[in-house]
Amino acid sequence: MEEIRVLISEEELKEKIIEVSRQINEDYKGRDIHMICILKGGVFFSCELAKYIDVPVTFDFMSISSYGSGTVSTGRVKIMKDLDEPIEGRDVLIVEDIIDTGRTLSYLLELLKHRKPKSIKICTLLDKPSRRVEKDVKVDYSCVQIPDNFVVGFGLDYDQKYRNLPYIGVVEFTD
Ligand code: IMP
Ligand code: MG
Repeated sequence: MEEIRVLISEEELKEKIIEVSRQINEDYKGRDIHMICILKGGVFFSCELAKYIDVPVTFDFMSISSYGSGTVSTGRVKIMKDLDEPIEGRDVLIVEDIIDTGRTLSYLLELLKHRKPKSIKICTLLDKPSRRVEKDVKVDYSCVQIPDNFVVGFGLDYDQKYRNLPYIGVVEFTD
């Protein structure tokens, strides 16, 4: 069984997301943003973030899997659903739920760079810097840095559960 302890409240998440949106608005002034939401975890965050972006935004979705059903990275990355549209010449912002080892993102960046976007940046809700394996992955925007805990909520799952929690919680395993 598992229990969920609140780590980041709904209010704090909102504040941090607004803070990052301000920075993005500043950086992208006069340009359009093509947001690539990484399914499924990035859905809640990309919707919340986009509400506060004041330059034109378009969306596309991509689904990749790097984890099995447990809490440990397998290092394997597989495309489950590719983008609907080409990204050539566009200012792409990848929106992720969490960057852990960085393996998923490293693979994704390599793949998308070959499609010739005008620019490509990374925005994540959560970052676990202590877990990074791919040291050269540069995170452009990050809302909250967290320690090495397995977290759920606001899009993040444990075994596909808890994505709908409005806060970020730590999973505590009992027996
Ligand atoms: P990475 O390739 O190790 O950076 O893993 C990134 C992906 O692993 C994320 O997009 C999540 O789907 C998943 N992940 C990593 N840490 C957690 C966590 O604490 N809770 C839930 N999912 C996680
Ligand atoms: Mg994910």
